[in-house]
Amino acid sequence: MKKHDLIVIGAGPGGYVAAIRAAQLGLDVACIEDEEALGGTCLRIGCIPSKALLEASERFHEAGHALADFGVKVSGVELDLPRMLERKTKVVSALTGGVAHLFKKNKVTRYKGHGRIVGPGHVVVDGADSVELEAKHVLIATGSSVAPLRGVELDGDRVGTSTEALSYPEVPKHLVVIGAGVIGLELGSVWNRLGAKVTVLEYLERILPGMDSDIAEEAERIFTKQGLEFRLGSKVTGTRREGDKVFVSVEGQPDIECDRVLLSVGRIPNTKGLGLDTVGIELDPRGRIPINDQFRTYVAGFYAIGDVVRGPMLAHKAEEEGVACVENIVNGYGHVNYDAIPSVVYTHPEVASVGKTEDELKSLGIPYRKGVFPYVANGRARALGAVEGRVKMLAHQTTDRILGVHIVGAHAGDLIAEAVTAIEFGATSEDIARTSHAHPSLAEIMKEAAFAVDGRAIHI
Ligand code: NAI
Repeated sequence: MKKHDLIVIGAGPGGYVAAIRAAQLGLDVACIEDEEALGGTCLRIGCIPSKALLEASERFHEAGHALADFGVKVSGVELDLPRMLERKTKVVSALTGGVAHLFKKNKVTRYKGHGRIVGPGHVVVDGADSVELEAKHVLIATGSSVAPLRGVELDGDRVGTSTEALSYPEVPKHLVVIGAGVIGLELGSVWNRLGAKVTVLEYLERILPGMDSDIAEEAERIFTKQGLEFRLGSKVTGTRREGDKVFVSVEGQPDIECDRVLLSVGRIPNTKGLGLDTVGIELDPRGRIPINDQFRTYVAGFYAIGDVVRGPMLAHKAEEEGVACVENIVNGYGHVNYDAIPSVVYTHPEVASVGKTEDELKSLGIPYRKGVFPYVANGRARALGAVEGRVKMLAHQTTDRILGVHIVGAHAGDLIAEAVTAIEFGATSEDIARTSHAHPSLAEIMKEAAFAVDGRAIHI
């Protein structure tokens, strides 16, 4: 039996950040992780490798298609897929190694194996480090896995998830993506740029559910122009493999033949085999661990954060929760402002959002004013050749407080940071409009959208 102050189960962005913050605050921290590499889905098989491939595929596509417009002649552009994948692997190992280094630096004790709760304050590690641990506090940060779809049998090869789609050994001739959510669009874009025909089957009549519908519509138009084929209102009922071919069945439509299928219809919390029942932790109807606003479960001494609890399944949301949770344990306070959690889809161009969508404001009956400004009217966007997209700012009709900002366009994921800060500080659209923004910069689009809220944009 080994004793610590805090046991963190899971070393994803939620768990490892919580472990480091708790160590900074003086706790003796243990972190249990089954995988060899630290960093969780995000670092190993999620956010980071997908961004490495998004960047690489964009460079490839640009060299072959976009540089001529800039007066740069390039010939003989060839894809070296093994090298591209190797680079991705190197990016991942540098970062997962970095987390191991941070654990050492902060004296977080890492245990390798599967964490299983066996009683209040007691967790057994099953695996390489077979040991029982004891601590006053146990934080569950076990993340999520791919949601299955009835009729779609994952074979770890032709019919796979984002994990397989990060490492296809050759460019698929025809990739069918099930689900036009974040993963489907990001990885669909990667393989489309590398030369695959990509068909995206989406159950709903729109892409990117949850994002502002105007912005999602514009994104759909842009991605369609890039070559993604969207079939909306398509309910996938199953897949059938015949040799290297896969047939995808869609309700009311002929089967679609392809050579690879990416299933991306959401993720489900990882709670199996955790021993939650041994201490009486019950799940909510969606399989998540119920918590209060201090991340405490209903059982004393147990806490949960990230993808296993309510809210968006986002790495940075889990990090905020991890920090707030351990600060609560040590200092008695810690808070996450869920109105100021950005969301970014790393397609090209990016889609980014924070706060309420226009659809939400309408359904909540909150009076608002709206300012929209297009990239095409911005000097820097013209110089960059990045004229597609727009910023939409929503501010309260009477107080002018910014309620939501939604962007589709180049570097949307960076631009959104200003909006997040504005919401965090309770800023108004007038505050942004009166703030000096460097010229020429894409950030000026945000300023102009703020002017537009009051009907006084300068450049349009
Ligand atoms: P998602 O929830 O974003 O999208 C799933 C899509 O599948 C939805 O549009 C849904 O309507 C559709 N769908 C469901 N059943 C279907 C069926 N039978 N046939 C056709 N379509 C169907 O899920 P996704 O893309 O798998 O991502 C999972 C999670 O990972 C999300 O919570 C996301 O926030 C997170 N993530 C975030 C990233 C980022 O922040 N950049 C990147 C990747 C994932």
